[in-house]
Amino acid sequence: MGIHVVTGSASGMGAASASVLREAGHTVIGVDLHDADITADLGTAEGRRAAVQGILDASGGQVDGVAAVAGVGPAMKDAAAVASINYFGPVALLEGLRPALARSSAGRAVVIGSNSSTTVPMIDDALVGLLLAGDEDAAREHARAAQAAVPAEVGQAAPSISAYASSKFALARWVRRTAVTPPWAREGVLLNVIAPGAVLTPLMLGSTGVGEEPDPDAFPTPMPLGVFGRPEDIAYWVHQFLRPEARFTTGATLFVDGGTDAAMRPDAQ
Ligand code: NAI
Repeated sequence: MGIHVVTGSASGMGAASASVLREAGHTVIGVDLHDADITADLGTAEGRRAAVQGILDASGGQVDGVAAVAGVGPAMKDAAAVASINYFGPVALLEGLRPALARSSAGRAVVIGSNSSTTVPMIDDALVGLLLAGDEDAAREHARAAQAAVPAEVGQAAPSISAYASSKFALARWVRRTAVTPPWAREGVLLNVIAPGAVLTPLMLGSTGVGEEPDPDAFPTPMPLGVFGRPEDIAYWVHQFLRPEARFTTGATLFVDGGTDAAMRPDAQ
């Protein structure tokens, strides 16, 4: 049985992932702002360093799996915080834990992106560039400045929609670029993305502004299956990606979105 790290373990998909892994007999080190084995703010450089150190201390320096689930949604008021939490949080954690993953005989990492990276039209290329360049101060400044350009009718419910979709887009690109570099690929550490669609969690219900389950057929993006996802639907795939037997997939993005991406981009491969 392995030692797995789950960020965002206090709620939603992270909580569901931690339970599935624990039920399968693994040791789980949960990281979150509250109610976790390690409490840390992954939106700050200091919080990320403390989280990595806490994980290394708790695991003895070898980790078999990391599920970087923690994140915020487009309803977050401050777009700078979205860039820090959703991009720099998982990237710094994974970079910090890579040597510990490499000590495992089957190191696996999976990050939670979003299908907004392909279905939301407001990808900010300049922000994506700053994120991938690792310039957190400039990315934060740009994200805040660009927030003013989000149209008011969208901005009321989702003031950070552009920063949100752009941070998830950049994260998926970082994974694709990084997974195939020698320190990851040649040390046998596999790195993939799960891109959820609308999943019923406090984040999603909060961003609808009504706090209760909306009608899937009246949702702004198509929901071909006619249902929203549940946290367990994502946890299932987190578990699969972290299995030692999942040994020939890296740099991939799996859409777990009830068909939204396929419905919106039927001809994309
Ligand atoms: P949630 O709000 O239920 O859980 C997110 C968890 O992340 C919370 O426990 C929260 O405390 C933690 N977190 C937030 N900021 C943090 C920080 N600075 N440091 C440490 N922990 C922090 O949300 P949900 O829906 O389970 O979200 C999980 C991931 O899925 C997020 O990355 C989100 O962006 C992504 N996502 C969610 C979708 C949805 O429809 N629910 C759709 C697509 C992606």
